[in-house]
Amino acid sequence: MDFKNLYKSLPEGGYTHGYIPRPVAVVCVKENPFTVAHHTPVNKDPFIYAISVDKNNYSYKLMLESEDFTINFLPFDFLKEVDTIGKTHGNEVNKWQLTGLSYHKSQTVSSVLIPNSLIIYECVKLNHIEFEDHCLFFGKVVMKHYIKGKLKPGKVRYLLFHGKNYYSTNKKPKKI
Ligand SMILES: Cc1cc2nc3c(=O)[nH]c(=O)nc-3n(C[C@H](O)[C@H](O)[C@H](O)COP(=O)(O)O)c2cc1C
Repeated sequence: MDFKNLYKSLPEGGYTHGYIPRPVAVVCVKENPFTVAHHTPVNKDPFIYAISVDKNNYSYKLMLESEDFTINFLPFDFLKEVDTIGKTHGNEVNKWQLTGLSYHKSQTVSSVLIPNSLIIYECVKLNHIEFEDHCLFFGKVVMKHYIKGKLKPGKVRYLLFHGKNYYSTNKKPKKI
């Protein structure tokens, strides 16, 4: 195999993620929403979820202060709103007014949630790990909300982010 001809190989340094699509979520901390693509489930029982937060974001300060946050998975139809939430800062603009989205009180935590989401996790903050430019926050999912009638694999359209302003959605999945 001619590996060198097949691949462009880059040494450490200079972030690049290769356009691998990632599901997009909007995290609300207190009343401020911000968009995240870097998030993952980390434990099943208890259900623990982690989000990676850029330290330049206004939300980073809020995440340090807050005892909780919510993770909201909006469908592909909300691409414009989610993109705007991910390109504006809550200490400069009111993102609710800007996008026309509204928030709702959560059931178990003080941070708000976003109706119209397909899935919503209410999380109690557990701990965080600081890295150079990002901080990984871990939350215990204490309440989950699943929208009724819209989550069938053949029906649901998630919002996927490929980097560099490219978005897509899933096609009908193939069951094996
Ligand atoms: C599709 C998309 C994905 C993003 N993913 C992340 C992420 O994983 N972590 C992060 O900290 N910021 C991410 N951002 C950037 C923040 O959402 C953005 O900086 C936002 O303006 C922060 O808002 P705030 O200053 O009100 O906290 C993403 C933005 C977009 C558009």
